Order: sequence, then structure tokens, then C-alpha cells
Amino acid sequence: MKVGILTGGGDCPGLNPVIRGVVRKLIQEGHEVVGLKEGWRGIVEKKTEALDLRSVSGILHRGGTILRSSRTNVYSIENGEQIVINNMKELGLDALVAIGGEDTLGVAAKLYKAGVNVVGVPKTIDNDLNATDYTFGFDTAVNIAMEAIDRLHTTAESHNRVIVCEVMGRHAGWIALHAGMAGGADVILIPEKPYDINEVAETLKKRHARGKDFSIVVAAEGASPKAGSEVLQGQELDSFGHVKLGGIGETLAKQIEEKTGFETRHTVLGHIQRGGSPTAFDRVLGTRLGVLAADMVLEGNFGNMAALKGTEVVPVSLADATGELKLVGDDLYKVAATFFG
Ligand code: F6P
Repeated sequence: MKVGILTGGGDCPGLNPVIRGVVRKLIQEGHEVVGLKEGWRGIVEKKTEALDLRSVSGILHRGGTILRSSRTNVYSIENGEQIVINNMKELGLDALVAIGGEDTLGVAAKLYKAGVNVVGVPKTIDNDLNATDYTFGFDTAVNIAMEAIDRLHTTAESHNRVIVCEVMGRHAGWIALHAGMAGGADVILIPEKPYDINEVAETLKKRHARGKDFSIVVAAEGASPKAGSEVLQGQELDSFGHVKLGGIGETLAKQIEEKTGFETRHTVLGHIQRGGSPTAFDRVLGTRLGVLAADMVLEGNFGNMAALKGTEVVPVSLADATGELKLVGDDLYKVAATFFG
């Protein structure tokens, strides 16, 4: 077989271990692998690179992706689906391995319906893909954010400050929740649980009243205030009354200082959470998912995604994985909230 492999969407620690797993397994079984560069753009524009054992040597520990990435959507290109089908024929590709998040795998699910032999691998630091217990990249992002929170604690404590740490998480608060719990945050704000700034201020005041003179607030970038609750004057809202994404840390810091009188600063971790070497967990998970994806191709198990269920890696349907997002549930948030204030 000749198999194409691509990485789409935001880069993520663990992509290279997956690529290495797929390539090593397929070559070992006597097949050929072609790298498609920059996500779906690679197959649409026939940007390719032959992958051999040498190409995947020394990449296990490296962040980012040797194949590069982009947010190219096949379905926003005129006749995109047919272009993919034609180009697969021209390049002699029998199957594709698509490594990506909801968007990239959403395209894979549609292409499968159109007759393309495709297998998915779940990538995102956000951990919000359904049908898998964890996505690779999440563990690395959480550890980076946790270390940052540990470091922010030092300054917060030395200067009697409140520090708001803004982490990634557009629709789901997994990074904020896990990093906040691991780092001992005093308040964690996530998109799934709209907040009331007065309640946040009260929680911090109570904490300071019991003798603590510093606090750490962890906020996912997608956190937003409850509809109808007080927002900062002049703050931009969308048509649903939600604060527009980005800059939530700065907004919160201003509001907290105004309402509590405590000196408050903010830090935005941004892409630092996506950079650098994957953790051991993500290297092992990426490797296992890559080898499983190669096995799925060899078995003709298409339209499915390699997923982690408990401690096993198993195939699940791409349609289930991309049907809806996996969000933080009430039970877990309640555990985290036990330590607020
Ligand atoms: O989906 C991963 C992610 O890092 C999100 O957490 C974040 O909202 C988004 O990508 C940022 O995308 P970009 O790097 O394109 O700004």
C-alpha cells in the first residue's frame, strides 16, 4: 500500500511520535508512506514528501510537526472533495492517516462518507475530542501550565498579590481545570461554567479574611460571565452577551482589583502551552496511537479513529469522535471547587 499522512490544525506536542509510529509500523510491514505537507493543503495542492526510516529518526522528543500544519478546510475550497479524490489517485495513495482535532477529523469523517479510505488520530492540547479519554498534547500543556502556576505562586506570595493566569481552552476548560487543580488554584474559571465576577471577588475576599494574603486565579481563554451578571464597562460582548474571546485574564485582573482592593496582575500563557518537547505520557500515547492507526490501515478499518479508552488504545468511529465536543462535567468541577477560596 501507499499511505498518505498529514497533521492539521494547531500544532501540539506528540505529533512527531505519532508520525514516527505510523511510518515505522507501515514500513516494517512492507508499505510506502508519503508525507502530505501543511495539513489538508498537502493533498489539495499535492505538496508531498516521501517518508522513510531516516525521515522519522530523532523526532520522538521534538515538539511541533515535521510535516508542518495549517487550518486548511477541504470543504471551504471549491470542489475540494473531488480535488482530494483526484489527487489521491494521481499520487497513487490507497489510504490517508489524518492527525488532528475536531476540524481536521471533521473533514476526515466527511471524506470517508465520500469514499476515501481514511483513519484519524486525535490531537489537541484542549482534550475536547469526544470518544477518547485523552488526546495527546494535553498532558504536556497541563504540565507547562502547572509549572507556570507554581512560578506565579512565588511572586503572588512575595508581593501579596492576586495573579490571574490565562490558559488555552476555547470551548472546553480541561487545561484550566487540570492545571488549576494540580497547581492549587484558588479559583478556576472555565467556558462550561459561566462566572459571576462578584462571586469571584467574594471568594477571594473570604480567603484573604482567613489570613491568606495572595491568590491564584486560573481562567480558560473561553471563560465568560453569566448572562446578565456584571461586566466591565465598555467590555465588548457578542450577540449572546458573552465576552469576546481573548484577553479574559486582563479583564478579570482589572475587575478583581476594582472589587477587592487587592493588587492584581495577569499572565497569558498562550502558545507556550503548545511548544517544546512532549511529556513521557504524550510520547507513549502518541506512539501507541500511531502504531494502532497503521494497524487500522492494514486491516482496512477505515472511517475510524485510534482512541484511548481506559488503558487500551482502540478504534472508535470518526463520526462519534467529531459529533460533539467533550466538555468538563459537573462532578469534576465540584471536586476542583472544594478548594476554591
Ligand atoms: O485548539 C488548540 C488551540 O491551541 C486552542 O486552545 C486555541 O484557542 C487555539 O488553538 C489557538 O489557535 P491559533 O494558534 O491558531 O491562534
